[in-house]
Parts: sequence; C-alpha cells; structure tokens
Amino acid sequence: MKKDPTRKCEIWAVGGGKGGVGKSFVLSSIGMSLAQKGKVVMVDADLGGANLHNFLGLSRPSLSLTDFFERKIMLSDLIVDSGIANLGLLTGAIGSIGAEGIKHSQKNKFFNHIKKLDTDYVLIDLGAGTHFNTIDTFLLAEKMIIVITPEIISIENMYNFLRNVFFRRLGVIFTEHGYRDLIMSTWQRRAEYSINNFKQLVDFLRQQSTEIAGIINSELSDFKVHIILNQARNNQDIMIGNSVKSICLKFFGIHSLYSGYVEYDELVSRSVNQRQAYMKAYPLGRCAREIERITGNLLSGRQVSIIK
Ligand SMILES: Nc1ncnc2c1ncn2[C@@H]1O[C@H](COP(=O)(O)OP(=O)(O)O)[C@@H](O)[C@H]1O
Ligand SMILES: [Mg+2]
Repeated sequence: MKKDPTRKCEIWAVGGGKGGVGKSFVLSSIGMSLAQKGKVVMVDADLGGANLHNFLGLSRPSLSLTDFFERKIMLSDLIVDSGIANLGLLTGAIGSIGAEGIKHSQKNKFFNHIKKLDTDYVLIDLGAGTHFNTIDTFLLAEKMIIVITPEIISIENMYNFLRNVFFRRLGVIFTEHGYRDLIMSTWQRRAEYSINNFKQLVDFLRQQSTEIAGIINSELSDFKVHIILNQARNNQDIMIGNSVKSICLKFFGIHSLYSGYVEYDELVSRSVNQRQAYMKAYPLGRCAREIERITGNLLSGRQVSIIK
C-alpha cells in the first residue's frame, strides 16, 4: 500500500529505570487495547533483554532490530504479525547489542524510520537503565510513560531516570539556543547557588534573562509524564501514584498525570507460561479492565480518581 506522506504516527514510550516492574507487560497490554482504536506497532527497544513477544503469547521472532542495525534491513520489513488484528511487533534482540552499542548515526536513522512507520501509534518498550540512548528514545515520544511499583526502590529508580531525562532535555534545548556553557557552569557551581535539584536549576536559569525564561517556558511548559503504578495490592499502594505526582512537581517542577494503576494478579505470569497474552486469555481479569481504563486515560489525558 502506498504510504501517505503527510501521515505521522504518534509515539508512546514506556521507561522507568528499574527492570522487573512490569514495563513490558503493561505496554504490551496497552498495545492490545489500543489496537481496537487504530493501527499499532510495538517496538521492543530493550536491546539487551527483549521479551515483549512473551507477553503477546508469541515465540521469539527470527527477525529483530539487530537486522536493522547490523544488516540494514528496513524497519517496516521487520514487523511481524502479532496474531492480533491491527498490532505488529518489532522485536529487540537478546545479547548481541545493547543500548550502549548503538552509534549516533544509527540512532538518528532508527528514529527517522520509526517516525515514518505507516501506523497510527508506535509503542516503544525500553530496557532498564539510564544510558543516553535509552533516554533519547524516551524523549522521542509524544507520550512519555513511567511504570513504577509501590516499592521504594522502584520510586528511587524513577526519580533517577526522570532526572536524567530532564537534564538531557534541558541540555539539548540550551545547546540548540547557544547556552550550553551557561548550563554547564551553573551546574558545576550549584553548591554556591544552593541548587539541589532540577527545579531549582530551572528557576535559577529563568532568572538569568527574559530570553532564557522564554526558552524554558516555551520548551518545558508542555512537558508531561504519565505515571502508571503496577502490581498494586491495596488502596495504600494505589495512593502512591499521587505521592509520585507531588515528587515530580517538587523536585522537577513538572506536572505529571497519574494515568492509572494495575493490580497484582497471579494470572499475569500464568498467561506468560501458557504462552498466551493476558488481555486475550483473561479479558475479564482485573488487569484487563484496568488496562482498558488506562488506555482511555492516556488517549484523553484524564487521570485516575483516587478513592480513599
Ligand atoms: N500486574 C502484575 N501482576 C502480577 N505479575 C506481574 C504484573 N506485572 C508484571 N508482572 C510480572 O513481573 C515480571 C516482570 O514484568 P516485566 O513486564 O517483564 O517487567 P519489566 O519490563 O519492567 O522488566 C514478569 O514475570 C511479569 O509476569
Ligand atoms: Mg521489559
């Protein structure tokens, strides 16, 4: 089919730093839910430990992103059928290359090809860690989604991940506007200026000139992060999403949206072991209902309403 040159897909990416919180399960399930609304391509960009296919009930596809990076095969030729209508999968690779093995030119080519995919939505699953290639892929997305669990380690990882994301974004903006030295020198002298976090840095930079304040306002004001809390076991856990919102505002000066929570459900690992996608095997399961709600919230920009 001939591609419409004006068409641009919307990119959603899931990150969060820590491995094992459920990024791949949540993203694959959102992908299945979203496929009822439009055409979706899921990209497993966890290059070291790709496993998105497991959550779709598929065995490892023979073609992967390695063929794009090492054999220069077009991305569109690497999309495999997921067995679910409207949903394609671009799988990552195990072992051969990690995020750190991708060169700058390869990354740019990868991003350009992703943006040109003939689909409505591209959903990118990121590996753990804060390598700048992972951060840049996250920043490519129109919807930046963080998955956390109610554990303190996961929240610390999220904080660390977001700090890297925001600094990288600020660094790029300031470099583009010719202010790279200012941000570097301010950060080096942060103790002198009593700057302890990203918000204080941004506030300090804003005060330097009206031009800089203007740059920050126009580039960072629409910066939004969507939070999903996974493996909730009780109402107290569910409330943690709200605390994370407060953390984002206090330390980063960024408004985040609590897009929803997913309960802990043993059927998640059972479905993987049965080589079935949870959403297909247990469409009436707790997680399925919650994922449907989250997908709706992500599309509309609504947030979860907390019940005390
Ligand atoms: N809501 C949930 N309830 C129960 N188990 C879950 C849930 N979400 C994820 N899991 C399990 O947690 C493990 C890690 O999930 P995964 O999506 O691979 O994490 P990540 O992509 O963040 O490394 C998997 O074994 C998965 O089956
Ligand atoms: Mg994963």
